[in-house]
Amino acid sequence: MFHPENKLRTSWDFFVLAVTVFGAIVIPLSVVFDLSSSPAAGAVLWIIPAVFIADILVQFNTGFYRLGKTVTGRSSIALRYLKSWFVLDLLAAIPLGLIISLFVPAPATVLLLISLNPLLKLIHSGTTLYRIGGTRINPAILRLVLLVFWILLVAHLVSCGWILISGNPENLESVPLYIRAFYWTITTLTTIGYGDITPTGSVQTVFVIFIELLGAAMYGMIIGNIANLIAHIDVAKSQYKDKLDKINAFLNYRDIPHDLKRKINDYYSYLWESRRGYDESAVIEDLPIALKTTVALQINREIIEKVPLFQTAGEDLIREIVLNLTPVVFTPGDTIVTAGEVGFQMYFISQGSVDVLSADEQTVYATLTAGQFFGEIALLLSMPRTATIRAREYCDLYRLDKENFDRVIQRYPDFAERINELAEKRKAEIEAIQKTKESELKESDIPEEIGEIQIEYTGGAASLRWDWVRDLRHYEVMRKNPDTGKWMYIERNALEPSITDPEPETDRPTVYRIRAIKTSGPGAWSNPVAIEPAPEEEEPQE
Ligand code: CMP
Repeated sequence: MFHPENKLRTSWDFFVLAVTVFGAIVIPLSVVFDLSSSPAAGAVLWIIPAVFIADILVQFNTGFYRLGKTVTGRSSIALRYLKSWFVLDLLAAIPLGLIISLFVPAPATVLLLISLNPLLKLIHSGTTLYRIGGTRINPAILRLVLLVFWILLVAHLVSCGWILISGNPENLESVPLYIRAFYWTITTLTTIGYGDITPTGSVQTVFVIFIELLGAAMYGMIIGNIANLIAHIDVAKSQYKDKLDKINAFLNYRDIPHDLKRKINDYYSYLWESRRGYDESAVIEDLPIALKTTVALQINREIIEKVPLFQTAGEDLIREIVLNLTPVVFTPGDTIVTAGEVGFQMYFISQGSVDVLSADEQTVYATLTAGQFFGEIALLLSMPRTATIRAREYCDLYRLDKENFDRVIQRYPDFAERINELAEKRKAEIEAIQKTKESELKESDIPEEIGEIQIEYTGGAASLRWDWVRDLRHYEVMRKNPDTGKWMYIERNALEPSITDPEPETDRPTVYRIRAIKTSGPGAWSNPVAIEPAPEEEEPQE
């Protein structure tokens, strides 16, 4: 008992198909040129029905599919075969022509008609061809091959018929005779009809009328079919072209600027190059869940292999994630995620690279490439997006929505932990970068030189305070001698921006100046500042 998908069984089908085609060519020739008289040709003609009978036996021993199950019960198989192709196969397998010619010398024309019964097998050869090649070869190409085959077969039969009817008036050898007849057939069938070979007598004329009618009918059918078939050889491409034509017509109608038009066209050619224009998730949408998972695993194999996070994950987890991944494309410069917004998706990069930017887009925190992912922080920690993500080039991403992400995280704590670790690390990185930036910013708020100086008396001493200076080593403070007008140091190494002068002038204003000694060298002296003498302290009254 053969399984319907058995390799040997498929090879047998192919063999029977080849024998059928061979028979369809050789049997008419054998009648026209009386080949059965040669022993070799005669033997070949007997082999054909032998193969057909063997095929009937094989058919009785081959299981079949019913409602997705393989049926192997003998009675069911027999019943099914008897109800379907058995009669046709049996009629094709009886070598009627050979048997009759053994006993009665029938006229060639009658014999030709009787001998053609093996051609009945051709009726389901198309089905066999589809079964063998349907999943491997483009169906449109198969249909085209079948169409051409039928046309040639009809032409062959008509040629043989024409030789029988018109005889061999020019006394040609077999091959030139056949070629001439074939030439006549093609010119007649294609309605070219040069008229160099014309019928004589009523039988030939009626035959020609019939063939001409057949030719006219076939011509129309062929033209219609071939145009249609060629258009469908690449279904995806013709659909894609249609879509692009429609879009371009619309863009022209709405006067869309040229640059934008080019961007849209570039996007579609990227879609075509990267996935033949198919929307993968829509294609598998209608499949039952088990089949969908298998196909999704197959389609998304590349991304699963690329993402290191998945490599240690179990089968179940991968199945769950893969089923919920939606492919999305971003064009160069697109903002995929905006800092500060609420996040509902995370993304895995399959192709291309993205920049992770600060909210003001001034700092690039990182550049992520194929196999990496982003957008997990907002989902995990329920916080606004920590960064903006921008596509550097065309990016093929896979999107995982929050509800699926949450489900996965709940069911697979190990996976959750690993994602969490990375999220925390990334968050810490961003915080560290932000802190450094903040302190750099503070640094830049600090002035280069000493600005305003505040002076006041505190208990007879003058205390001076001023602002910090950038890149400081220490400060130097000088006081002016009111008698000589010379400056004198009162402090050469102040580490803080304040000092106290215990001996200011008591009867005249005291004048000070300060400078910072910086890592790069001494800064400029400040403008001199003066403080009036301290008011006399009133004696406390007894
Ligand atoms: P989320 O905060 O949801 O959105 C912005 C994403 O940028 C964030 O999740 C992370 O996935 C990603 N991200 C943040 N910081 C870094 C970083 N330092 N390196 C790589 N990716 C980061």
